[in-house]
Amino acid sequence: MAKIDLKGRDFLKLLDFTEEEILYLLDLAADLKDKKKKGIPHRYFEGRNIALIFEKTSTRTRCSFEVAGHDLGMGTTYLDPEGSQIGKKESIADTARVLAGMFDGIEYRGYGQEIVEELARYAKVPVWNGLTNEFHPTQMLADLLTIREHFGRIKGLRLSYFGDARYNTADSLMVAGAKTGMHIVLASDEHYFPDPALVETCREIAAGTGGSITLTTDPEEAARGAHILYTDVWVSMGEPMEAWAERIGLMKKYQVNAALMRLADPDAIFMHCLPAFHDQGTGIGRQVYEKFGMAELEVTDEVFESGQSLVFEEAENRMHTIKAVIAATLGL
Ligand code: CP
Ligand code: NVA
Repeated sequence: MAKIDLKGRDFLKLLDFTEEEILYLLDLAADLKDKKKKGIPHRYFEGRNIALIFEKTSTRTRCSFEVAGHDLGMGTTYLDPEGSQIGKKESIADTARVLAGMFDGIEYRGYGQEIVEELARYAKVPVWNGLTNEFHPTQMLADLLTIREHFGRIKGLRLSYFGDARYNTADSLMVAGAKTGMHIVLASDEHYFPDPALVETCREIAAGTGGSITLTTDPEEAARGAHILYTDVWVSMGEPMEAWAERIGLMKKYQVNAALMRLADPDAIFMHCLPAFHDQGTGIGRQVYEKFGMAELEVTDEVFESGQSLVFEEAENRMHTIKAVIAATLGL
């Protein structure tokens, strides 16, 4: 693995990185994963500290940053959605300069992409995007690593996404696929297609990597021959409960179920960034069932629990890939 120097870089969206840099981060993640599995210590940043700002809730991303930080020998400080002054009593610019004086890197999860971009502008240490409304770049590295582990390659694979295609996960998949030469198909209601300007940008990038971007309202067309079927929640964090009524009506035809899986490549896998509404095991899932009578939402329990589902491998890879981002941008 030839080293690529990413020291001091922010990690805000994959559009800011070349294909070579993205593949390097996957190689580094694979190496760190191997070390972790073999019990080989990799406390390269002993005595350093990172701040984790979460203006929205999290299980995977928070735990990944904390475990990755500790494995690298660092201290981590978690700022929860209520427990800091950010945005309420202190501006992003001031917060950035305060935290940069104490920490070696800052993770931010929250609302608009412009907030994490502003944080990065004012902080003199690397800033990592842990999810905004627009992008979820650390999720993409985990997804690409999972895909590469399973298929042994990324380029040329057909990844079809079903559901809300104008939000962080779908938009990031489009960027990640364009950068790495995948064929990305987004199946959704046309009111939930991505921003046309971003589609255009991704198509230009894909033209140079051998990939492609297709938008369709037909879930069966999207599923046919797909290597990866991917979905995400229909209503995202920060959106009101009232959104469910309209969303269920428009999205139910994009549910990933066994019939859709059968149209895909025989070796196809199912992926989901999680959390997922696949059964009645969640409070919101039960509320939605009582109101709308739909017991499984974006994915059926059958598909979620099937042998084709790699969702828990994907979730584990969040940690290994986030560790690679921290290590590379701090100068490993
Ligand atoms: N996939 C993901 O970002 O999960 P969390 O919201 O639990 O961090
Ligand atoms: N689209 C989802 C992704 C969660 C990881 C959300 O923003 O809630």
